[in-house]
This record gives sequence, structure tokens and C-alpha cells, in this order.
Amino acid sequence: MSEFVKAPLEPMPLSDSILNILSQLDASTGDVKDAITMPPEVYTSEDWFEFEKRAIWDRDWICVGHTGLIPEKGDYVSITINDDPLLVLRDKEDQIRVMSAACPHRGTVIGEERGNTKNTFACPMHAWTFDLQGKLCSAPEMEAHASLDELRKDHCLPVIRTEIWNGFIFINLDGEAKALAPRLKRLSAEVANHHLGEMGAVPTIDWADNPWNWKYMHENAIEPYHTRYLHKGVHDFAPSKLATFAEWDEADDGAVFHPTGFLELDGNFTESYKSLYPTIETLSENERKRVMFACVLPNLFFGAVPDGLLHYIILPQGANNITLRVGFLYPKSTMALPDFYETLPKVVDGLSIYNDQDVVANKLVHRGLKSRFANRGRYAPKEKTLPQFNQWLIKRYKTYADSLSKNSEKKRTVA
Ligand SMILES: [Fe+2]
Repeated sequence: MSEFVKAPLEPMPLSDSILNILSQLDASTGDVKDAITMPPEVYTSEDWFEFEKRAIWDRDWICVGHTGLIPEKGDYVSITINDDPLLVLRDKEDQIRVMSAACPHRGTVIGEERGNTKNTFACPMHAWTFDLQGKLCSAPEMEAHASLDELRKDHCLPVIRTEIWNGFIFINLDGEAKALAPRLKRLSAEVANHHLGEMGAVPTIDWADNPWNWKYMHENAIEPYHTRYLHKGVHDFAPSKLATFAEWDEADDGAVFHPTGFLELDGNFTESYKSLYPTIETLSENERKRVMFACVLPNLFFGAVPDGLLHYIILPQGANNITLRVGFLYPKSTMALPDFYETLPKVVDGLSIYNDQDVVANKLVHRGLKSRFANRGRYAPKEKTLPQFNQWLIKRYKTYADSLSKNSEKKRTVA
């Protein structure tokens, strides 16, 4: 089972409406002074989302969790990326593996939300079992039709290619993506002192049924323009005037990120505006006085704060809805503190103050984008990260569309 599955979705023909959107994208990149927002259909069209599933979600590195969630051999968590239920686990050899959770017999989804299994996963429907490498181990009453060896040829759980960056586990469904880490050089340097790969994780919480597009979640999270207005008062400890930006670097384009400074050391998104846990010892004074916001595209957003890291894994439910998997990482020494779990609800409550305001605003944006009067607006200086995000998207949209037209040309030539 050393081979990873390559399982891209069937290519889709480019309809006139998709070609029309593709022809309008260039105006959304370049200098923030001149760029305008993306066509509204990019956020609202289910056809466009089907295109994105192929152009981005099949071809890039998708975050499925953090190694801190599965510290022991046999630990696993379940996650569904678009239509694919997956098991993310630590096998008996201490290797992180991600495999399909759809039973190859009749499709039943295997595995609880999270747990630990010593040897096998069992399908709840007909009790077929699979080991932690996806190999079929038993299939009750099947002897009359096929031996176990015969069944194993096409009834094992497909194992998906993975890469781990700073403890975050990423998968690549088409098996062709270039390595992720070399495209995260600058961000890796920015968060090196957090030692994210060594952190522990608390069980994630799913906030479901958020009626807006997955891309808008990043946009809200990565632009500091709105914090002064939507989060007036509660965001003043991290004023938008202290936000700084990096220039876009096409050779290091795995993430869009920017820091926002705090007025005081060890600020945080809590009711007291201060960190509730001990500051990470290895941080510089500058790092204690800022939050580093980063979108590792397409579906991980995090804020590296002085005592740990908060993150969202964005799980689209189509073009018009997302589930947010919310998680927190901390040094293991912090998680060993006797009052760690007593304090944790206050951390979640703190984040909720901002999230509740963002939920209201994001719903309003999505409603507006569906209007026939939706406009392609100009960006403000503090929205510099948004044309950068657009650049990341458009490059991938165009690469995929070009590959389709090249393929169809090839087919025509052969015919
Ligand atoms: Fe916000």
C-alpha cells in the first residue's frame, strides 16, 4: 500500500458562462490601487464551484488537520472534503496517513468523528474491516464469492498523498501537486519561533451552516480594513493602522499573510484583550506584540498569537455555504497546566466575540453578491492582501482551463 491514489474528478466542459467569467478575471489582480473585486458569480455560482473543485481542490494541497490532534498510534479524526469523507490517522509505525472513509463494498462511511483504534476500522454495515494502512482484513460471508486476496485487488481503502507543514496535515487528491513547503518559505520564517509542529491541539469544534462562499471566509480573515469598523472597540488593542503587508512573490505563493501589531505585549482575542496562557518562550518581543494572520490556500486560515495559534479549516458545502472547523494549538507545556481546560472556554468565548460580528457581516456580503446589482468595487489600501489572493486563484483557474483546452486540441488532432 505504498502507492498513493491519484483521483481527480472527471474534467468538465467549460460552459459559456464559465468562459465569460474567465475572460473577466485579470482586472482583479495587480496593484491594489487599480484592482477591482472578482466577478460576483465567482462567489455564488454552483457551476463555478464545480470548476473550482477541479481547478483548485483537486490539484492543490488541502488541509485536513494537525498532527497534535492525533498524538498516539491508532488515533484518528474524520473530515469530509467536498464529497469525500476521509480518515486522518497515525498508524502503528507512527506515520500520518489519510485515506478514504467510504467502504469499498457499498459505500458506508467508516469511523467515528474521532477516536483510537488499535488494529482495524470496521464498517458498521457489514463488518468488513481494514487495517491502518487501508488494507482489507476481513469480509464476513464473502468466501463463497471471492477470496480475501481477490477482494484486496479493488476493495482496499485508497490512501491519499500527504505532506506535513509545521504539523498541519495536507492532502493532494490528483497526486501531482508540487511540494508545498518550498512555496511557504516566508511564512515558515515568520512563524518559526512558534514551533507549530511541536504543539499539541485541543479537539476541534465544527461551526456548521455558514451561508457564504469559502473564498469570502479568507477575505474577511485576511483584510484589516474592516476591523476598525465592524469590530470597533473590541479590536482596538490590535488597530488596523498597525497592520503591515508583504509584496506578492510568485515563487513563494503558498499563502497570503500579514501581521497586525498590538498596542501592548501579549495581546490576544479575549475578553481582556490579553493572552490567557503563558507566552511562548521562544518568541521575540516583536512577535509578542502582533498577530500573524495567514491563509494557507485554499482552506487553512490561522492567527499566530503570543500564547498559541487559532485556526479555521474551511470546508465548503457547495458555493453558498461553509462549515468551519475551529482549532487551537498550544505548547505541550501549556496544555499540561492544571487549569488548562478550565481556561479554554474563555478562549473560545473570546474568539466568538469577533466571529459573531463576522458572521453577521459575511451573511450580508453573500446576500449582496447574489444581487443583480452586485458591483465589482475598488479596493482600499488596507485590502492589499485581496488582489494577492485573487492572483493565487486566477493563476490556478487559468492553468486548469488551459489544460482542458490543450487536451481537447490534442484529442482533435488525434481524431
Ligand atoms: Fe473580522
